[in-house]
Amino acid sequence: MLDLYDPDSYVGAPPHAVLAELRRTQPVYFQEMSGEPGYWAVLKHADVVHVAREPNLFSTSEGGVMLENLEPAQLDMMRNMLLAMDPPRHVDYRRPIAPRFKARVIAGMEEQIRGICREIMATAAEQGDVEFVHDVTSALPSRVIGQLMGLPADDLPFIHRLAEMNTSGQDADYAADVSQGTIDMAMYAIQFAAVRREEAPREDLTTLLLETDFNGQYMTDIDFGSFFVQLVTAGNDTTKTMLSSGLRALLDHPDQLADLRADRSLVPGAVEEILRYENPLHYFRRTATADTKLRDVDISAGDKVVMFYTSANRDEDVFDDSQRFDIRRSPNPHLSFGIAEHFCLGVHLARLEGRVFFEELLATFPTIELTGEPVRIRSNLNNALKSLPVKLAR
Ligand code: HEM
Repeated sequence: MLDLYDPDSYVGAPPHAVLAELRRTQPVYFQEMSGEPGYWAVLKHADVVHVAREPNLFSTSEGGVMLENLEPAQLDMMRNMLLAMDPPRHVDYRRPIAPRFKARVIAGMEEQIRGICREIMATAAEQGDVEFVHDVTSALPSRVIGQLMGLPADDLPFIHRLAEMNTSGQDADYAADVSQGTIDMAMYAIQFAAVRREEAPREDLTTLLLETDFNGQYMTDIDFGSFFVQLVTAGNDTTKTMLSSGLRALLDHPDQLADLRADRSLVPGAVEEILRYENPLHYFRRTATADTKLRDVDISAGDKVVMFYTSANRDEDVFDDSQRFDIRRSPNPHLSFGIAEHFCLGVHLARLEGRVFFEELLATFPTIELTGEPVRIRSNLNNALKSLPVKLAR
């Protein structure tokens, strides 16, 4: 049987045929890991939803969200991030921030995002032949986070470089730089917080985070540093992947790309299908806090329980013809943003970035062609491309 833990199992493509077979035969599948306890891979859509809806039974704080158990110091740091907080603390931190990420508020960023996309397209047009992941997609998410947080424009290239270093730790091309990128980014944010505390409040997320009373507690500069790292890392690779894997899926389906060019009102649906079909993250983990059952499988307190989005998004019980890419798919209840308690805080921002990016890409370049083999990142977490060589022509 294929090893679902081995990053090499994902290098060519995710193992969709194996996952389809397991959904039929062992939908709650135990995967061994060497050197530490293995995990239950939860493969059916309904079961992933069930796990996500029980945040006290399936905790993020207990063991974090990665397959690998963390060292106690790392786990402690992780627990300062929303992603690794359980209720009620999670609610205390999320509730005051959530209004800033609401659809209506995020919609107000459309013109800024369009401006950034137009600059990116203008630069790409000068190049013509581009490595799409790096040359085209990577600038958007860090610049958008910069706007949200009120970072000085001069600091953006530096943050962009650090964010780029944060990419998947299992790929030999990046491994050495990952933790340094995270540390440097946290240090930057701690200094930024100290500067901003001296200045007048502004209408941005930084002021909101620094001035909010989170159920009796204010953020220290160090708390702010962890939070900042979380926002940049959560929103960076995932968004880049949506854009680059999305273009690849469209190039692989030229009829649908032509339909999209002819009718731009299809773009939001296409973005949803890209998210379902090319979900940027394979999984997030929980830890069972009590003995329980999933289907007929006994789960013990302390077991790792993993919500496998790559499988749930192709569950035949939920999606007709689930292996088919279909930009008109409706309804499309994919789980690429998770669901329930930890549902992606940046969901509206990500969707807006996706829509505006593809609108501007298609409007700028009537011709887009692959010029080489795309290369995927070696990772069991990031379902992403490392490079996508294309020619963009006006
Ligand atoms: C295509 C882009 C994105 C994808 C696929 C994605 C995916 C996810 C997923 C699956 C979760 C749920 C984690 C869980 O249940 O354990 C999540 C949570 C989160 N995301 Fe996103 N995300 C994206 C973009 C963004 C952006 C742009 C931001 C912020 C600017 C962001 C910020 C967050 C935060 C703060 C959380 C934690 C929420 C919580 O624990 O309450 N994400 N994201």
